[in-house]
Amino acid sequence: MNNRINRSIKVNKHTVKNRIIMPALVCFNWGDNDGFETVDRSDHYGKRAKGGTGLIIVEATAISKDGRLSDTQLGLWDDDHIPQFERITKHCHTEGSVVIVQLVHAGMKAIGNLVYSSSVVDIKDKRCLESSVEKIEEIKKDFVLASLRAKKAGLDGIEIHGAHGYLLSQFTSREVNRRKDRYGGSLDNRLRLSMEIIQAVRDAVGEEFIISYRFGVNDPTMKEDKYFAKELEKLGVDILDVSIGIGANSIVAPVGFPFSNITYMGTVIHKEVNIPVACVYGIREPIEAKYLLENNMVDMVAVGRGLLADSEWTNKAINGESVNKCYHCKPCKYQVDGRTCPRYHK
Ligand SMILES: Cc1cc2nc3c(=O)[nH]c(=O)nc-3n(C[C@H](O)[C@H](O)[C@H](O)COP(=O)(O)O)c2cc1C
Repeated sequence: MNNRINRSIKVNKHTVKNRIIMPALVCFNWGDNDGFETVDRSDHYGKRAKGGTGLIIVEATAISKDGRLSDTQLGLWDDDHIPQFERITKHCHTEGSVVIVQLVHAGMKAIGNLVYSSSVVDIKDKRCLESSVEKIEEIKKDFVLASLRAKKAGLDGIEIHGAHGYLLSQFTSREVNRRKDRYGGSLDNRLRLSMEIIQAVRDAVGEEFIISYRFGVNDPTMKEDKYFAKELEKLGVDILDVSIGIGANSIVAPVGFPFSNITYMGTVIHKEVNIPVACVYGIREPIEAKYLLENNMVDMVAVGRGLLADSEWTNKAINGESVNKCYHCKPCKYQVDGRTCPRYHK
């Protein structure tokens, strides 16, 4: 059976064979303290690729040791990290998926004794420092170098993590960013770091490498989000992967919209730009993804925990079969390791 899920889509020069994305999902506790995996991930991602997923976004990977969000997180701050991504890429490519990796600096949410943010919001937090302009330059360079390593590993692109309250969210958010220099204040100033990183990465990796942006709907006004989305499009971002930002709770989906406010914001951003836009959050069953695609509300649908519960989710969705349904029980995030669904994989 053919349906909207099974339509290919062009992302930059790459053809993604269908509309389902595996969004970044950290495999907690599956790595060491130096950014190396301790368990081979190629099988984990390869299974989701074999299960038909069109685009795989490999989990949040640190661009620098001091930007890690967890001490078992994968890294791409050293050339020695490249082989682990080569293995993942090879496996996913063999199964016909396009595969990119998410790059992150956690900012004030990083682990360690000293962390960096746009500005210091809580003066009692002695760990947190305002990023100097030199530090900002270093962070930009780290994003570029990590992107080049991703390219060397054979990946089709990268996703820059601009959501979930991590460093780039901390710059775009008016609530956190209180700087008085060219990286703070006006909307353009708050967006500057993200924009400069994207431009620097594009200059380094070339035109055909996918750059996705995990877009955090994070400021009090939808107007700012719409403006930012258009700026990202102009800059040559290839996908907007819309998710949670610092101020996301203030967004209310209209009565009757059958999904979350986060999913709703994906549909809002979709109307603003002509590049592929993906939505996420709580899409558990194929009928839900079909609804969003058939009503032209978004271009692609990211299925996170659903793909942990059922690696064959996409093929089953395409074939009209029922899937293992994610029950949002949360242990995949908080108790186990993010790679398995405890309900279906004891
Ligand atoms: C175990 C786990 C790990 C996650 N890791 C990441 C991550 O590395 N980067 C990211 O942007 N989001 C991460 N997320 C958020 C997911 O990408 C996704 O947005 C979220 O799970 C909502 O989608 P879902 O309802 O389909 O699961 C994670 C979520 C879970 C449950």
